Amino acid sequence: MKTRVLSGMRPTGSMHLGHYLGALKNWVALQDQHECFYFVADWHALTTHYEESEVIGQSVYEMVTDWLAAGLDPDKSTIFIQSRIPEHAELFTLLAMGTPLGWLERVPTYKDQIEKLKDRDLATYGFLGYPLLQAADILIYKAAYVPVGEDQASHVELTREVARRFNNLYGRGKDFEAQVAAALARLAKDDARYYDKQRKAFGETGSDEARAKGEGIVRKAAAQVSGWRAEESELLLGHLKGSGRSVLVEPQALHTEVLRLPGLDGTKMSKSYGNAILMRDEPDAVAKKVRGMATDPARVRRSDPGDPEKCPVWQFHGAYSDAATKAWVVKGCTTAGIGCLECKQPVIDAIVRQQQPWRERAAVLTAEPQKVQRIVEAGTERARSVAQQTMKDVRAAMGLDY
Ligand code: TRP
Ligand code: SF4
Repeated sequence: MKTRVLSGMRPTGSMHLGHYLGALKNWVALQDQHECFYFVADWHALTTHYEESEVIGQSVYEMVTDWLAAGLDPDKSTIFIQSRIPEHAELFTLLAMGTPLGWLERVPTYKDQIEKLKDRDLATYGFLGYPLLQAADILIYKAAYVPVGEDQASHVELTREVARRFNNLYGRGKDFEAQVAAALARLAKDDARYYDKQRKAFGETGSDEARAKGEGIVRKAAAQVSGWRAEESELLLGHLKGSGRSVLVEPQALHTEVLRLPGLDGTKMSKSYGNAILMRDEPDAVAKKVRGMATDPARVRRSDPGDPEKCPVWQFHGAYSDAATKAWVVKGCTTAGIGCLECKQPVIDAIVRQQQPWRERAAVLTAEPQKVQRIVEAGTERARSVAQQTMKDVRAAMGLDY
């Protein structure tokens, strides 16, 4: 079985090259090896944009169009909208009951963002709670991996703690021990003995290696023992770590190395700063934007040598140029051998080339907007059935199935 990957993105405007290189490119790459769930985090957008909620509606299908244009394939990836699956809110509510306030107050992005986004009033209950909503988004699909930027690492860590706490509180029904014994009895004798050995080792030393080996046995059973149930895996995975049944699965953050792309003026690329190249900008617009980009301020005249390290165009070369072009830039810039417009041309060409297949796919999609809606509908149905199953387990574990 393929491992499940889940990630979400906020719909707050058209997507730009920074979004593509920072996240979307990776999403596309992951869909060949994993079962991928990607969603429009419209409720998350509301935590900061509650006073201008209309922006969200305008951006939802634009954003999904950008995803599809970039190469997300609806036959491989499940694409859906968060707010169409109210089970996310149900799980959020249930998790909220037992989550200590301090866990949320201590999330580093909380105070940071309140400081940074001074023009918005973020002293809201929703804003404090949104990392827990994110935990619900992840846990409801029992995702193994969550591709996110470094800035979101603390949210995945919180998600792990929330899952652990839930499993400890609710993962041991009264016949937990008997159920574990029954599941163990279904393993091959050697495997059961090996599992037990790893369990003891993990309990004594906390060794990750022992845990991984124990998990390997459970995976093997899932693949080989006939009629093996997911619940049996959850029992043994929980028992291995000395907790209850793993009703909720602790996810792992997936940080891939990404090239940071600044905006046209050298600060962070953002549509609202007016310094972004959009994924679907026309070639003319791209050329105009790059030609107008800031360069090393020391290069006032063509004859002044420059320093690529002080120039945002150089960072674009980092993302878009091969070694030979980069060597040409360094030599030409530091000796005033090339002008800045000359230096920018290969960047323009590379971006336009990269966008070509996006433009072609987007043209097909925008000609027939129902197509995108149908893709989202089908994805939402698929995601919903997984979410509903998890909620059944969660309610039962909590004793709410009366
Ligand atoms: N909070 C993320 C962001 O601001 C978006 C997000 C919401 C998300 N839910 C998620 C990402 C679940 C990964 C998994 O970018
Ligand atoms: Fe920047 Fe290139 Fe001009 Fe040097 S030559 S300052 S790297 S645009």
